[in-house]
Amino acid sequence: MTIKIKVEGLIHKYPDGTRALMGANLDVREGEFLAILGANGSGKTTLLKHLNGLLKPVSGSVILDSKTLSAFKPSEVFRKVGMVFQDPNDQLIAPTVEEDVAFGPTNLNLGYDEIMSRVNNALELVKMKEFAKKAIHALSYGQSKRICIAGILAMQPEVIILDEPTSGLDPDGVKTIMKILNDLNKKQGITIIFATNSVDLVPVHMDRVAIMDKGIVVQEGTPERIFTDSKKLEGLKLELPLIAQLMEVLRDKEKLPINSLPLTIGQAKHELSHLFNRENNIQHAGSIE
Ligand SMILES: Nc1ncnc2c1ncn2[C@@H]1O[C@H](COP(=O)(O)OP(=O)(O)OP(=O)(O)O)[C@@H](O)[C@H]1O
Ligand SMILES: [Mg+2]
Repeated sequence: MTIKIKVEGLIHKYPDGTRALMGANLDVREGEFLAILGANGSGKTTLLKHLNGLLKPVSGSVILDSKTLSAFKPSEVFRKVGMVFQDPNDQLIAPTVEEDVAFGPTNLNLGYDEIMSRVNNALELVKMKEFAKKAIHALSYGQSKRICIAGILAMQPEVIILDEPTSGLDPDGVKTIMKILNDLNKKQGITIIFATNSVDLVPVHMDRVAIMDKGIVVQEGTPERIFTDSKKLEGLKLELPLIAQLMEVLRDKEKLPINSLPLTIGQAKHELSHLFNRENNIQHAGSIE
């Protein structure tokens, strides 16, 4: 397993004195789909902004491809690591959609045809092609989120960081974005780091989870290891995915014999049909006796 980005002892202090990172450590593995969870103010955005050098730490380091981030030229980092901001207003700068998505590739000094092909591709992926000529300020919130994602896709980075990309999107928008990210991750091997408050997405799409609390990463592991019981997450102001909450109630209150907590609809369906079959077999055996 290759480590794509290593975060070591990161401390960050904002100009007003807020200590937002208190010695955060994190390993991002090459090709993984990593979720970053944590309560509001736990330091997710601050940590993510260190991964492409937008923020500089007071101390600690970020290692990208075995080389410290400060040894890269900023343009090299932006080429490798793309970031979709939490607030689209922080990201969108050009007057129109097309110009905005073209902004990154233009700065990579690509030829016009290559730039336009990347812009068209990216807009098609986020289902916004017919908005190419639209003014940025006239987009709805969800549409502007999609354009932010298109802008990063057009850069074709090795790592994509997304800060709550699905907040404010309708269910179709969420599905579209998750499908794009899954394809990029599974088919093209792009490493994805995804900060979110939507815990339900995590076991369906992500390989691993890192949980932040008060400026540090307090837990790292697979969704199965992280989402074992609601009590453990309560102190971190987090919840189990809804399906797991239901299965936990069935296990603890209704005393159904559930071994490992199902986290997705598919896993729950499997577990429940197993239980129903068992129940039917017991009843059937009873009626034969
Ligand atoms: N520009 C800033 N200046 C001063 N303090 C800041 C700044 N940005 C963030 N903070 C503070 O740093 C801490 C971490 O904030 P951060 O935005 O990283 O949290 P977060 O986990 O992304 O939260 P959310 O879930 O609300 O997006 C908070 O206490 C916040 O108030
Ligand atoms: Mg944030």
